[in-house]
Amino acid sequence: MNNQDKIRKLIELRNEARMGGGEARINRQHEQGKMTARERIEMLLDEGSFEELDMFVTHRCTNFGMEKTKFKGDGVVIGHGTIDGRVVYVYAQDFTVFGGSLSETMAQKICKVMDMAMKAGAPVIGINDSGGARIQEGVTALAGYAEIFERNILASGVVPQISAIFGPCAGGAVYSPALTDFIMMTEENSYMFVTGPKVVKTVTGETITVNDLGGANVHSSKSGVSHFKVESEEEGLMMIRKLISYLPQNNFEEAPMIECTDPIDRLDEELNTIIPPNPNMPYDVKDIIYSIVDDNEFLEIHQNYARNIVVGFSRLAGQSIGIIANQPNFLAGVLDCDASRKAARFIRFCDAFNIPLLTLVDVPGFLPGSGQEYAGIINHGAKLMFAYGEATVPKVTVTLRKSYGGAHCVMSSKQLRGDFNYAWPSAEIAVMGAKGAIEVLEGKNVRKIEDEQERLDYIQKKTDEYDNAFANPYQAASYGYIDDVIEPRNTRFRLIRAFQSLQTKKVTNPLKKHSNIPL
Ligand code: HXC
Repeated sequence: MNNQDKIRKLIELRNEARMGGGEARINRQHEQGKMTARERIEMLLDEGSFEELDMFVTHRCTNFGMEKTKFKGDGVVIGHGTIDGRVVYVYAQDFTVFGGSLSETMAQKICKVMDMAMKAGAPVIGINDSGGARIQEGVTALAGYAEIFERNILASGVVPQISAIFGPCAGGAVYSPALTDFIMMTEENSYMFVTGPKVVKTVTGETITVNDLGGANVHSSKSGVSHFKVESEEEGLMMIRKLISYLPQNNFEEAPMIECTDPIDRLDEELNTIIPPNPNMPYDVKDIIYSIVDDNEFLEIHQNYARNIVVGFSRLAGQSIGIIANQPNFLAGVLDCDASRKAARFIRFCDAFNIPLLTLVDVPGFLPGSGQEYAGIINHGAKLMFAYGEATVPKVTVTLRKSYGGAHCVMSSKQLRGDFNYAWPSAEIAVMGAKGAIEVLEGKNVRKIEDEQERLDYIQKKTDEYDNAFANPYQAASYGYIDDVIEPRNTRFRLIRAFQSLQTKKVTNPLKKHSNIPL
C-alpha cells in the first residue's frame, strides 16, 4: 500500500464510522422523528467546529458472539467544538449501534471527554438516547456507568453539565443526567425512569404507559427532574446554545458580557401601576421581569414545575444574572416544598458559577397544612434559606409587595447577606398578614363583643391600625433592613447600578470540608 492508498483507506474507514449502525438503522431513527448522534452534534455546535475523537474505538465483548458484530466508534460519538466561539465538550449516544446501549468502551469514551472538559475548564453536553447498560457485557457496563457517575459528581460546580434526553434513558442510566446541572426532554420520544412499565406492573400491579411514567410532561411538571421541555430536538439544541450563552466556562470564570443596546436608564412607567390596588389580586411577575431586563429576554428554567416561583437567566447591562421571583399568579406565590427545592437548586448553581442573583419578592408565607408538613417543608424551606445564606455572589433583592414571616427571612433578606435590599412603595413587610395577626392579637377582645356590627367595626379598626403600621416598607427601612424604597419605574437602572457596584465583591465562607445543607 502506498501513502495514497493508505489515505484512501483512512477516508473509507472514517466514512464507515460515520454510518454508525448502518443505513437501515439510521432510516429507522429518522422515521421515528429522531436525528442521529452526529446530526445532533452538527446542529448543536458552530458550523464546522466539531472535532470527533475515538471514532475507531470498538467494543471488546466476546459474549453471545458479540465479536462478530462491531461498529466503529461503538455506540457514542464524542469530541469538542464551539458554541458562539466558546469551547464545549460533547458526547451523543448513537441509538443506531446496539440501541446506544452502554458498553465498557463507550463508558471509556464518555469518561475521556469528561476528563478533557475538566482539564480545559469547559462545559460538557451529553445527548442521551440509549437502551441502558449493554446487556451482553454485564458487569463491565455497570462499572462503566459508575465511572461516569463519579465524574459527573467531581465535575459538579466545576464546569457546567447539561443533559439532553432525546430517546430512552432508563434504569440506573438516569443517574448520570440526574447528577448534571440541567436536563432537557423532548415531548415525543424521550422518557426517563428507574424502572419501566413492565417491572412496575410486576412489582406493584400498577398499569401505566411509558409517557405517564416518565415522559417529558411528567418530568417537567410533576417530578421536576427535567428543567426544559421542548417540542423538537432542533428546538432543544437551540435552547442549549442559548443556555450556554448565559454561563461561564467554569467556576473560576465569569459569564461572558454581552454588548447591551437596551438603554441602561430606560424607565418603564407601567411598572408604577402594575401592582393591583387590592393586595389579594394576582399579577404576573414575569411581566415585571421582562420589563426590567435587557431586551425583554428571560430564559426560564422549570417553566412548568412549581410555578409559584419563577427562576431563570437574564441580563442586566449585558451581565448574566439569575432571577428568582415569587409568582402571585400561581398559588398566590406561596412557598411550598417544590418551590423551595426548585429555587434552592437554581441559587446553588448560580453561586457555584459566579452568576449574581436578583430576587423579586411577593410572598404571603409558607404553604400551611399537613400535606406540606408531612412532605418535609421544614427541610425544604431550610434548604432554600441555606442556599441563599451560603451564596457569596452579589445578591440584590426587590420586595414588590408581600414579604411575610419566615418567607421574608428566606427570600434573600438583608440578614442572609443580601447586598442591596430595595422595596417598592407597595411592599408589606411583617410577621404575618393583618387577618391572621388580628385573630391572634385581638381574638379574646373580639369574642367579647356581642353586637355583630360592632364586632366587625372593631376588627376593621384594628386591621387598619395593623396595616398602617406594617403594610408598608418604611418600618423595615427605618432599621436599614431595606436599603432604599424605590419608584417602580426606576427599577432597571437602580438594579444595574447595584450590580455594577458589586462587580468586585469578594466574600468567602468559613473554611470547611463542605457544608451540610438540609437535603
Ligand atoms: C444491548 C440493546 C439494548 C441493551 C437495545 N438494544 N437495548 N442491546 N443492550 N440494553 C439493541 C436491540 O437489541 C436492537 O438491536 C437495537 O438496540 C434497537 O433496539 P429495539 O428494541 O429494536 O428498539 P426499540 O423498539 O426502539 O426499543 C428501545 C428500547 C428497547 C425500549 C430501549 O430496546 C429495550 O427495552 N431495551 C432494553 C432496555 C433495558 O432494560 N436496559 C437495561 C436497563 S438497566 P438491533 O441489532 O436489532 O438493532 C440499566 C442498568 C444501568 O441500564 C445501571 C447503571 C448503574
